[in-house]
Amino acid sequence: MNIETNVPLQPHNSFGIAARAERLLRLRSMDDVQTLLTDPLRLEPHFVLGGGSNIVITGDIKRLVIKVELMGKQLVSEDEKAWVIQAAAGENWHDFVAWTLAQGWPGLENLAMIPGSVGASPVQNIGAYGVELQDRFESLDAVDLQTGQHFTLDAAQCAFGYRDSVFKHAASDSRDLGLLGRALITQVRFRLPKKWRADISYADLEKKQAQKGIAQPTAAQVFDWVCEVRRAKLPDPNSLGNAGSFFKNPTVTPEQCQDIIAREPRLVHYQLADGRFKLAAAWLIDACGWRGKSVGNAAVYEKQALVIVNKGGLTQPCTGGEVVTLAKAIQTSVYERFGIHLEPEPVVV
Ligand code: EPU
Repeated sequence: MNIETNVPLQPHNSFGIAARAERLLRLRSMDDVQTLLTDPLRLEPHFVLGGGSNIVITGDIKRLVIKVELMGKQLVSEDEKAWVIQAAAGENWHDFVAWTLAQGWPGLENLAMIPGSVGASPVQNIGAYGVELQDRFESLDAVDLQTGQHFTLDAAQCAFGYRDSVFKHAASDSRDLGLLGRALITQVRFRLPKKWRADISYADLEKKQAQKGIAQPTAAQVFDWVCEVRRAKLPDPNSLGNAGSFFKNPTVTPEQCQDIIAREPRLVHYQLADGRFKLAAAWLIDACGWRGKSVGNAAVYEKQALVIVNKGGLTQPCTGGEVVTLAKAIQTSVYERFGIHLEPEPVVV
C-alpha cells in the first residue's frame, strides 16, 4: 500500500484549515480498495475523507486518513419508468448533477452546487430546496473495513433521516445497523423518474419563478435558479472557506413551538408532516445577535447566520479550535434564550 506521510490537508477541507495527515492512503480504483481489504491496515483507526466539505479539523490527524478518489459515472439501467445512474464515491457532487442534466436525465437539479463528493452525499442525506438525496436514491455499494466484506444497501437499510443516515451511528446505537467508522462507500446509484415535474415549492424558488415569469421551467432552468439562489445566500468555499450550514434546523413539539412564539412572535417555523415544527436555526442564531461576530478568524457569515466562515483565507486561516469555540458559544446563547440545543452538522476531527 502506498502510504503518503505528513500530507497537507488545507486543500482538502472546504474551511481551508491548515493541518496535516500523518499518513494518507488514496483509493483510486476498486483494485486499491481490494488491496486495502486484504491488508491488516484496514483494521487501524481511520478517518475517511471525501470532498472535505463537512469537516472541522482541529489538529494534525493521527489516524490513517483514507482519501476516496474513485471516479466514474454511467447509466446502469433504464425502463419505461426511470433511469438508474451510478457514480463512484470520489466524483464531485455538483459536477455529477450537471452531467446528469446534460445527458437528459433530470431529477437532481434542486441539489445543484452542494459542495462535496458523491460518496458523502448519502452519509449526510444532503438536501436543499425541497428535495433530499433519499428522494432520488436507489442503492449503494460499500465495503466494511471491519469484516473486509463488500455489501449493498437500499434506501431503507440506509435509514435516512434529516441530514442523517446509518453511516452516522455506531453499532451500539438503538438502530440495529450502525456503520459509523466501518463503512467505506464506493458507488452510489440514483433512480431518476422519467415522469419529471419541476419541484419549486420552496419559497426561494417560487420567488425566482415569479421574477423570471416562467410558468413551466425546464430542469436546466431550475438548476440555474438553484445556483443563483445559493450564490446569493451561501459563500463560495473557493473564496471564503466554510462547511455549509453549521447546525441542523431543530425540530420541536407544537407545545414547545407555541411556548417560544409566546415570547418571540417573529420565530421562523414550519410545520412538518408529523405535526411537529422545524425552526430556522439561522433565525435563532441571528436573533441572538451572532451575524458577523467572530472568534479569532472564525466568523458567523454576514449574509446567513447558519454558516461559519474562515475569514483569514489560506494565508491566515482560522483554526478548528476557533470554529469549535465559536460554535459552542452560539449553542450556549441559543440555549439560554430559547431553551433549544442546536446540533452541529459537520464532523469535528
Ligand atoms: N434566516 C434568518 N437569518 C439569517 C438567515 C436566515 O433569520 O441569517 C431565516 C429566514 O427567515 C429564512 C430561514 O431562516 O427564511 C431559513 O433560511 P434558508 O431558507 O436560507 O434555509 P436554512 O434553513 O438556513 C436549509 C439547509 C441548507 C439548504 C437550504 C435550502 C439545513 C441545516 N440547511 O438552510 O443546506 O441549502 O435550507 O434548502 O437544513 C447545508 O446543509 O449545508 C445547507 C446549506
